[in-house]
Amino acid sequence: MPEFIPVVEKEDIHRQITRVAAAISADYEGRELILIGVLKGAFIFLADLARCLTLEKIKIDFLQASSYGADTVSSENIALKKDVDLDIRGKDVLLVEDIVDTGLTLTRLIAHLKGFGPRSVRVCAMIDKRERRKVAVAVDYACSTVADGFLVGYGLDYAENFRNLPEIYHMKL
Ligand code: IMP
Repeated sequence: MPEFIPVVEKEDIHRQITRVAAAISADYEGRELILIGVLKGAFIFLADLARCLTLEKIKIDFLQASSYGADTVSSENIALKKDVDLDIRGKDVLLVEDIVDTGLTLTRLIAHLKGFGPRSVRVCAMIDKRERRKVAVAVDYACSTVADGFLVGYGLDYAENFRNLPEIYHMKL
């Protein structure tokens, strides 16, 4: 049985989301914002973030990149499994990601979204995990920053398990 060490507790998650949501609401005031969640890991984070935003016009969409499967290290070949449905041409887009590790997934997704000609693309991540970054990528809004370790809970999985844990844990196999 793996060991689970708490990294971000419930109160902290909600405090950080409130802080980031206030910054996003201020930056996009009076504009329409399209939130694009990266499936599956970002679904809980996006649901909580969206409800904290005070903007009047918000649309929500999702895309999905290939996952780690049962591995805990990044794959360099990132395929797109599900594309966005909304027309984002000329729109302000906020990509909502669970965790940024090497930055490869995000770089690939940003390039893909830019191909649709949006007005802007920014990134909001629940966790910015910096130590294994391979490509420089701007995380415009980050809730928590961690050095390293494999995390589960609050949407994050290990082989599709543990997404439902209400807090974020460091999982030690
Ligand atoms: P990157 O391409 O290495 O930045 O990895 C990004 C994706 O890998 C995230 O969207 C997650 O799905 C997954 N990932 C990275 N680190 C972790 C982790 O610690 N726990 C669970 N999933 C992770």
